[in-house]
This record gives sequence, C-alpha cells and structure tokens, in this order.
Amino acid sequence: MTVRIAIIGGTGVYDPNILTNIRDEKVSTPYGEVSLKIGDYQGKSVAFLNRHGAGHSVPPHLVNYRANIAALKELGVKSIFATAAVGSLNMNMAPGHFVFADQFLDFTKVRQHTFFEGGEQGVVHIDMTDPYCPELRQVLADAAEELGLTYHKYGTYVTTEGPRFETPAEIKMYKLLGGDLVGMTSVPEVVLAREKEMCYANISMVTNYAAGISPTKLTHQEVLDVMAANAENLRKLAMKAISL
Ligand code: HPA
Repeated sequence: MTVRIAIIGGTGVYDPNILTNIRDEKVSTPYGEVSLKIGDYQGKSVAFLNRHGAGHSVPPHLVNYRANIAALKELGVKSIFATAAVGSLNMNMAPGHFVFADQFLDFTKVRQHTFFEGGEQGVVHIDMTDPYCPELRQVLADAAEELGLTYHKYGTYVTTEGPRFETPAEIKMYKLLGGDLVGMTSVPEVVLAREKEMCYANISMVTNYAAGISPTKLTHQEVLDVMAANAENLRKLAMKAISL
C-alpha cells in the first residue's frame, strides 16, 4: 500500500503504538539511510519517523533533516504531521496547549537547510508565503475541536539553533519580533518539505514559558514531564487528524 501520510515524532513522541501491523523500514537517500516504521490506521498506511533517532540520541542541530524528508518523499508521502515540544512567549499559549504554527522565524545557524545547491538543478528560490500547509492546519483544528482540546490555530515558531535553551534577552527579542513559540527543529524541516512539495503541518505542544518569562529555570526534564503528561492528547489528536 502506498504511504501518503507521515508523522514525525519530536521530543516525547516516540511511540506509534496506535498503528497496527507495524514494520521497520530502512530508506536510503542521497543524504543517508533513514530508519522508520510503517503501520496501518483505519485502512491507511502511515509512516512514523522519530526525529531524534533511537533513544533520543540526536540533538536538534545534528538531525539529518534532508535525509528524513527525502526518505518520506521516496515513500510517496504527501502529508506530514510533525510534532514539536516548544516554549511559549505568548501568555495566551500556556503549557499543555496545542499550537498549529503558520509562520516561522529562522534563527538557525549551521544546518543543511536546502535540497537546492545549484549545479545541474540551477538556482531555485522557493516561495515561503505559507510555509505550513493551510489545509492540514484546518484538519488539525477540526480534530482538536472535536476532541475538546485547547488549541491555537496560528502561531509564529521561532527556531533556534540549540541545543542550549535561550537567554531571557533572546526571548525578549524574539517576542518583539512577533514570535509566539520557541523550539529547535521546525526549520529546516518545514522548508525541506516545501522544497519537495509535500504538505507539512506543525503540531506544537507548549511545555513551558520561555526563559525569563517562566519564574523558574528551564530543564529538559520539565519538557519531558509535560510531554509525558500530554502524550495521550497528542496521540489522540494525531490519529483523529489522520482519520479526517
Ligand atoms: N526553548 C527551546 N526549545 C524548547 C523549549 C524552550 O523553551 N521548550 C521546549 N523546547
């Protein structure tokens, strides 16, 4: 069966256990080999890709984003739901809320961020007016509505290089620039998906208020704890979205 839908699981989302008939696949791409799982859900074949690799071993700045997206393209995937744990700069977007980003601000530094590197392909400049797929965002909003989850249909995702968290001064700047969320992975993932003409939606789960907004210092454990507490909602949301 052709695989048309993929879930990219970010921090705290490692388990495709709602799929049946799960099998391991390896896909080779010009950028490296990618291990992923393929399973079935309501008669649809769904790919599940762990962004941070086995046992969360790959930090955000070293994820092989090009191989991951090229592998999904190779499988025939058209729609990608990508989960992300994020900090919030917007007091309305509280820990536990879902946000379906519609814009990004790119503060990454050293990533392989394009498939277009000149040569035979020529010089390509891709439109980024709607980086995240509006149709899939609507599907997510409908799914969240049906499930009674607290969600925000729009948000600007600031992508930092990481792996460190931000300084309060940086967060103040990102807020002034219009950022709502801060995380370390959406760019270049969304950009590469656009370059491959796939529909890509972001499912951000707010785990904390960002540095300087939160009264306490941020730890990775806090992020993991909030993700764990909301894992069931996230799973329900992703599955509902797939079924719509
Ligand atoms: N900053 C960056 N990435 C994150 C955060 C944060 O506050 N929370 C979860 N991922």
